[in-house]
Amino acid sequence: MEHFHTNRPGVNGLEISAVGSPELCPAAETAFGEILAAAATPRALLNDSEPLGRASILLVDRTDINRQLIKGILKAGPYRILEAPDTRAAFDLLESEPVDLVIAEMMPAAGDGLEFCRRIKSDRRTRLIPILIITSVQGFDNEVAYLDSGADEFLIKPLQPAIVRTRVKTMLRNKRVVDSLEEAETILFALAVTIEQRDKETGNHCQRLAALSVSLGKALGLPDEDLLALYRGGYLHDIGKIAIPDAILFKRGLLNEDEWAVMRSHTWKGEQICRPMRSLKPVLPIIRNHHERWDGTGYPDGLCGESIPLLSRILQLADIYDALTSRRSYKSAYSPEEAVAMIEKEAGMGWRDPELARVFCEMVRDPNFVTHSAALFAAGEDETENAALQSMLASLASMSRELLK
Ligand SMILES: [Fe+2]
Repeated sequence: MEHFHTNRPGVNGLEISAVGSPELCPAAETAFGEILAAAATPRALLNDSEPLGRASILLVDRTDINRQLIKGILKAGPYRILEAPDTRAAFDLLESEPVDLVIAEMMPAAGDGLEFCRRIKSDRRTRLIPILIITSVQGFDNEVAYLDSGADEFLIKPLQPAIVRTRVKTMLRNKRVVDSLEEAETILFALAVTIEQRDKETGNHCQRLAALSVSLGKALGLPDEDLLALYRGGYLHDIGKIAIPDAILFKRGLLNEDEWAVMRSHTWKGEQICRPMRSLKPVLPIIRNHHERWDGTGYPDGLCGESIPLLSRILQLADIYDALTSRRSYKSAYSPEEAVAMIEKEAGMGWRDPELARVFCEMVRDPNFVTHSAALFAAGEDETENAALQSMLASLASMSRELLK
């Protein structure tokens, strides 16, 4: 947080101390980028000759003989086959077992089958499982209806074993790519939190930031996609600091001009790290532009006014408020009232979006908000902090479930 520069040692490093990081050499940084790029590149992850492992396939067909037929076709593959005679049994298995592919006979009652596909694709836990529909019914109408409902592929009887095996293999390969991307994103989030936690002073900065940013987004009536981007931005906005040497990141004195240039690069380096992940596209402007200033004197692009992405402006206010109300080794925590006054002062100086700052200050002054969040942002005793953290994590988990539905 570069916005309260004084010559007091350490204060200029307010933001610098906000996040710790492993000291990565350029080679390690490159390697990390390559891992992410590889994760986003199917070819880099999957070799055609690589065995698919023991993928789980769920067969949904009311006729035992049909299930036996498919099992026979797939018996040479390294698959674990689960069977369900109806959709109810199928959902029970989906609840209790990891499934990589669903092969379902088109239901005699088309509505059931369509609803089956829709339900799988609308549940966050199962939406990435591909569905292969097998049918003896010819005609585009059925196919279109099923594809519209979430089915991924169609095979029309009589089945050609070689085609079934190839189609299954392809769908499982694609599923593995999707799984790898999800894993890469999970790793990225875990890494971001680890970086934050390395500096004990920042406590649970990421979680608080996510909670504050989403609260402001909600107050502004933003759509769920934006709230989700803010939630993710709370964790990932400073991930570029992984590329900043500790000697600069943790320097207690003032940074010289060269060191500041390195420090400022955490914005575009963070964007570079997350760019391979398509799902993080809405978060990229937050990562890149969370240090811009309303009057154009920020970095890295010197954007001003509304050309600064709204989500970046939101996260920035939350970041400032959290840094001010947190205790650090070189400063005590400011009270919420003092923090609000400082943000208003910055808005008056032309650094922050005045209207957004007004809404934010109104939000954190609201008695309900204060009651709910006071413990979360207090630098109090450990026990209080733990209880507050548990409550906040529970509310974040529920918020995240809601957003990811
Ligand atoms: Fe930052």
